[in-house]
Amino acid sequence: MDMEMVHVLDHPLLQHKLSILRDENTGVKDFREIVSEVATLMCYEATRDLPLEEVEIQTPVAKAVTKQIAGKKLAIVPILRAGLGMVEGILTLIPSAKVGHIGLFRDPETLKPVKYYCKMPTDIAERDVIILDPMLATGGSASAAIDFVKEYGVKHIKLMNIIAAPEGIRRVQEDHPDVEIYVAAVDEKLNDHCYIVPGLGDAGDRIFGTK
Ligand code: PRP
Ligand code: URA
Repeated sequence: MDMEMVHVLDHPLLQHKLSILRDENTGVKDFREIVSEVATLMCYEATRDLPLEEVEIQTPVAKAVTKQIAGKKLAIVPILRAGLGMVEGILTLIPSAKVGHIGLFRDPETLKPVKYYCKMPTDIAERDVIILDPMLATGGSASAAIDFVKEYGVKHIKLMNIIAAPEGIRRVQEDHPDVEIYVAAVDEKLNDHCYIVPGLGDAGDRIFGTK
């Protein structure tokens, strides 16, 4: 695994919240809220390299040359369903980001991603994109989502996952070596059903209470 393009965000607040997410006794309300908070904290780190430009403003006291974010605008693209749980948390920090959606589910037999929905902002090609999904397991869904976003002409893509398996990171790096990956934890392995171990279970079911 080439860790140069992988950012493991191990801030104490993130690690603490991640433990609550992993706990099977955490209920749907807390789980959903904490996924959102984790996304906000991860967004803070994933936007650390945004370019700045100088701007002249007038404070109540004096003129000042200060900084504002320059360059391309952002879009976030959650992978449905579970990625939806991260959207509000990102918009808390970047309220002007546009939101595209990609619907993918993992076929339980083949474990391959199946696309059932895709709607992107019309100007997505001019935006930098952060793809959101709490779980990076085999990497099939993330790799397919990156493929779709690239088909729209997007040049700069980041992938944000709360928990990743080493297998998923390797898969994304093989298919998309240009994509930087932001995770709060790299877990041990996948089990026989391609669930992340120890992981947190099925993220979609835990966010939406469907099990
Ligand atoms: C989960 C998760 C990812 C995918 C990860 O979604 O949210 O999208 O699995 O697995 P992979 O890395 O092996 O592709 P799921 O297919 O359960 O769909 P859901 O979000 O609709 O529940
Ligand atoms: N999808 C999930 O929601 N959890 C896993 O552990 C793997 C895939």
